[in-house]
Amino acid sequence: MAKNILVTGGSGRLGNYVCSHLKKQGYNVVSFDMVPTPPDSFNDKEGIPFVQGDLLDLGDCLRAMAYAKPDAIVHLAAITGPTELRVPFGPDYDPSRKFGYVQRQPEDNCMKINTMGTFFILDAARRLNISNVILSSSYYATGIGGRLSGSSYTPKYLPVDEEHPCDPEASYALSKYLDEEMGKAFARAYGMKVIALRYMGVFYENNEMSKRIYKFGIDIESADDKNKGMMVDNTYQYVDARDIANITDLCIQKIGSNGLKPFEAFFVSTDTTYKANSSEFVAARWPFLKDLAKNMKGTEGIFSIAKAEKLLGYKPEHSWRNQ
Ligand SMILES: NC(=O)c1ccc[n+]([C@@H]2O[C@H](COP(=O)([O-])OP(=O)(O)OC[C@H]3O[C@@H](n4cnc5c(N)ncnc54)[C@H](O)[C@@H]3O)[C@@H](O)[C@H]2O)c1
Repeated sequence: MAKNILVTGGSGRLGNYVCSHLKKQGYNVVSFDMVPTPPDSFNDKEGIPFVQGDLLDLGDCLRAMAYAKPDAIVHLAAITGPTELRVPFGPDYDPSRKFGYVQRQPEDNCMKINTMGTFFILDAARRLNISNVILSSSYYATGIGGRLSGSSYTPKYLPVDEEHPCDPEASYALSKYLDEEMGKAFARAYGMKVIALRYMGVFYENNEMSKRIYKFGIDIESADDKNKGMMVDNTYQYVDARDIANITDLCIQKIGSNGLKPFEAFFVSTDTTYKANSSEFVAARWPFLKDLAKNMKGTEGIFSIAKAEKLLGYKPEHSWRNQ
């Protein structure tokens, strides 16, 4: 019998890919979001059933779950960047980063919606005996993104795996880290099965913004060094939204199976964006990592996907190298 899947954040960018892909794989998909399904989106064309509601309202979360009766929940809904204002006119003041200095929404939105929203999703799920939840985390949870201290992210070894300690600072990174901790707690306390997918920055095919942000096939010399050799935000790694849709399906198939612990985190990447071998690129771009980089193979990324390959059978399909 087809599995029922509830996707939160179904009206968002990834939601559109994930819902339509899962529907095409034969699942019964319901979308839950604060904003309606965008007209002419995949979800609109596929006729994905939709429940409107707020993550911060436990009643709305229960209502969506009662409607969808999901075998698994794919929790995508979130605020996708820090909403607190950065300190103006300080040493790292950069007026071109308008989003950091001009308030566009309540400053506590990111922390509040991402943490309490995830708590209500997990809490509603356990009240309704729904055991399987797939959380969308981020590579920012490691602490590489939003370094308010102005210090570099400093991996202890390369490539970084899921066992590596995290030291998040700004609200988005911290909220994703805390979401994972909540996943672990619900797995411990209620025997739920929780997977956290730590996506790299997402590339959307044919999207002008993505094409500008992700420059593929770059040479070492043209690598942007506005962070002066520090490792902050950008690892020259990305994930294609279609690969996220694929790994979500793999998680639905594997969650709760013998090979997985009750809580698992996985880095999810499609590829790196540079031409050189990683050991060479990393040594040139981040000289302080030169010795650690010697362990890197081929063009693999700073964040390793070996665990997802081994335990989930994940295989990225949408690298720029083979398009
Ligand atoms: N886009 C990336 O590069 C990237 C990278 C790593 C992780 N992620 C994670 O992937 C997930 C999806 O990202 P996206 O790019 O599709 O984001 P998006 O902003 O396009 O979509 C998020 C959706 O969540 C919904 N939402 C926000 N607050 C809500 C609330 N209170 N109640 C109900 N719905 C609410 C929004 O309406 C929106 O449709 C997020 O959890 C994000 O943190 C994204």
